[in-house]
Amino acid sequence: DQTLKKAADTFFVGVAVQSGKLNGQYDETYRKEFSSITAEWEMKMNVMHPSVDTYDFGPADAIVNYGQTNGINVHGHSLIWHNSTPDWVKNFAGTDQEFEDMIEEYITTVVTRYKGKVTSWDVVNEAVEDGSGNLRNSIYRQKMGDDYIAKCYQFVRAADPDVLIFYNDYSMIIDQTKQDAVFAMVDDFIARNIPIDGVGFQMHISHDYPAKADIQKATDRIVERNLKVHFSELDVRANPNKDITSLTAERSLSQKAKVKEVVQVYNSIPNDNKYALTVWGLKDSETWLTDFYGYVDWPLLFDGNYNKKDAYYGFLEGL
Ligand code: XIL
Repeated sequence: DQTLKKAADTFFVGVAVQSGKLNGQYDETYRKEFSSITAEWEMKMNVMHPSVDTYDFGPADAIVNYGQTNGINVHGHSLIWHNSTPDWVKNFAGTDQEFEDMIEEYITTVVTRYKGKVTSWDVVNEAVEDGSGNLRNSIYRQKMGDDYIAKCYQFVRAADPDVLIFYNDYSMIIDQTKQDAVFAMVDDFIARNIPIDGVGFQMHISHDYPAKADIQKATDRIVERNLKVHFSELDVRANPNKDITSLTAERSLSQKAKVKEVVQVYNSIPNDNKYALTVWGLKDSETWLTDFYGYVDWPLLFDGNYNKKDAYYGFLEGL
């Protein structure tokens, strides 16, 4: 029997997971089909460091231990993200230097805890604004300055010399200004010897865009710099225009074709530059997109009953 991970023998096939759903058919499917996991939300700062003097590693530990026990790679996501910043950090009362020290301590604590267990970290997630290419004016930028990203990468590297460190963002394929800004940042890091091992394209895409050639072009720019590429959060909307109420055969095949293209591009990357192709959830019935967009979609490889969809077979055919 073919499975995703058996078919993809030059990179990890990842899936976003939750600590409460590592049992039963989740467990069976993860172990059978996938070779890497990412915590969908439980390794973010609002969960792991909910108040100034509390850390909560319970859910994160459960996910990391699950990976370890089952020989599944664990990708860490994500140390710094404006959308998962706890309120106490947003309202931080101390000086800028105290803020930076607090961030350094946070990063050092987390990275040290999972050293040797987590292969890679998204250090900073979504730092670049849509359209303008400017840095988002997050609390991190306000307190630590424009160089906050570089500082965070250095904190991670100091805590773990071996862990792979990624910059992760969305819309880098359809938003050329954003893509250019990210590559300018990457080139600046390389020039200044700031550690960075790879770039994650989230890949929240649709059945009819972006074009394969544009995915390829963006990916090539990472390979040219000899960095690793992670397709880190793949989901493929079948209903971006809200025009269907159930997944039609036609839309399902269009989605399958897009998944196949994505996998073809990823698979054609030189092996040294590959890392993982991760899907952002297991079953359509539990996709985050329902809450995010407020209407139904079927963006994943399995339906609500763990059945393989056309999109699943598109993945296999892309290899
Ligand atoms: C989302 C999760 O899927 C949700 O469960 C959570 O409530 C919010 O975050 N970009 C990212 C991911 O980098 O961390 C986001 O995940 C989706 C968008």
